[in-house]
Amino acid sequence: MSRFKFLLEAIRNFREVGTVTRSGKALSEKITSFITKEDEYILELGAGDGAITKRILDRMHPDGKLLAFEINPNMFANLSKIKDPRFFPINDSAENMEKYMNDHEIEIFDSVISAIPYIVLPEDLAKTILGLCKRNLKKGKSYMQVHYAKTLTSLYTGVFGNLETHFVLFNVPPAYAFRCINE
Ligand SMILES: C[S@@+](CC[C@H](N)C(=O)[O-])C[C@H]1O[C@@H](n2cnc3c(N)ncnc32)[C@H](O)[C@@H]1O
Repeated sequence: MSRFKFLLEAIRNFREVGTVTRSGKALSEKITSFITKEDEYILELGAGDGAITKRILDRMHPDGKLLAFEINPNMFANLSKIKDPRFFPINDSAENMEKYMNDHEIEIFDSVISAIPYIVLPEDLAKTILGLCKRNLKKGKSYMQVHYAKTLTSLYTGVFGNLETHFVLFNVPPAYAFRCINE
């Protein structure tokens, strides 16, 4: 998807997309930096047209599975162009993750990477999705979240009890990679 098409899609659906540009290289690097080759099962939420997805595939286990949720049909059409036997794009909302875990015989994830714009979601839905992420993430492993401001920090500390924030200057706009550990 071209930058211009992403911009149009984002403007048309701002209450879902929450930004007007996709994640750049530095942000994609930072948000995936805690994934290792040991990480077999990965969950990506709000995958868009796949800016972060490709980096996850580079870093994860060579025989693992990546389930990537994206609700916007045009973003999803572009996401689905990524061809990798480990990659399973899903055109559904993140709160339905457990149904797809069953379908793919995944008991627990080794890592979660999200760019869902919780800031534009109803608070109850944001808490439900985060609660499901915590329940389905291995202990000691990371939940990573893209943010464009240091807002909503209490949402993450409320669910995970901890939060690290990493500033990424070289992104348009500059962004944060939030990290919560599932203690
Ligand atoms: C900020 S964009 C990020 C796109 C891409 N991951 C990137 O970093 O460039 C957020 C994406 O989350 C999707 N989204 C919003 N709510 C969602 C939900 N409940 N379940 C799945 N995807 C959702 C939007 O459609 C949008 O494509």
